[in-house]
Amino acid sequence: MTKALLAAALLLAAFAASASAAPRRSATETMADACEYVTVPQLCTNLISKSSCTTVRELALAAIKEALHSAEEAKATVTKAVGEPVADPKLKQGLDVCDEAFANTMTSLQAAVNGMEAGKAYDQVTVNLSQAMIHVSACNDIFSENPGLVSPVADGTSILKKLVSNSLSLSVAVNVQLKQ
Ligand SMILES: *[C@@H]1O[C@H](CO)[C@@H](O)[C@H](O)[C@H]1NC(C)=O
Repeated sequence: MTKALLAAALLLAAFAASASAAPRRSATETMADACEYVTVPQLCTNLISKSSCTTVRELALAAIKEALHSAEEAKATVTKAVGEPVADPKLKQGLDVCDEAFANTMTSLQAAVNGMEAGKAYDQVTVNLSQAMIHVSACNDIFSENPGLVSPVADGTSILKKLVSNSLSLSVAVNVQLKQ
């Protein structure tokens, strides 16, 4: 190697080292930044205030747990409705679909919580949260497929969907952070 080439190589190496040591600020570095990119930022910033989270990772886990809690509530509401006499067979069918949808949502969210707590790859956690999104949608879909049929659990489903969606965005933010 000539002296000039060696100098160039050293210069490049030094440049690469300094570039990687320089603080890199990404869009998802802070919890407040991460909250800007979720479906409902207000719900996310509320969670920052009421939790003691200090990192985006902790915030993502808290968001998944909050969604799980909301899914449990939605499931309890619909299970109660299913247990009562329902005259309209279409409404009865809709409630049954929602009952199953919320049970599946809880299973997927619980898998995401377990995955996060076990330090599993975030890709897996993200898959579980995407599945949870699909399960929640099943409850809305059954009612929108039947015009005139109003979901008695529309409010609970709506908030649940927002919470699951937010937790998915936060988990993606953690994933992006890890891969930078
Ligand atoms: C969670 O995701 C993992 C892998 O991505 C998958 O094997 C597992 O079946 C999922 N669990 C649930 C309950 O969705």
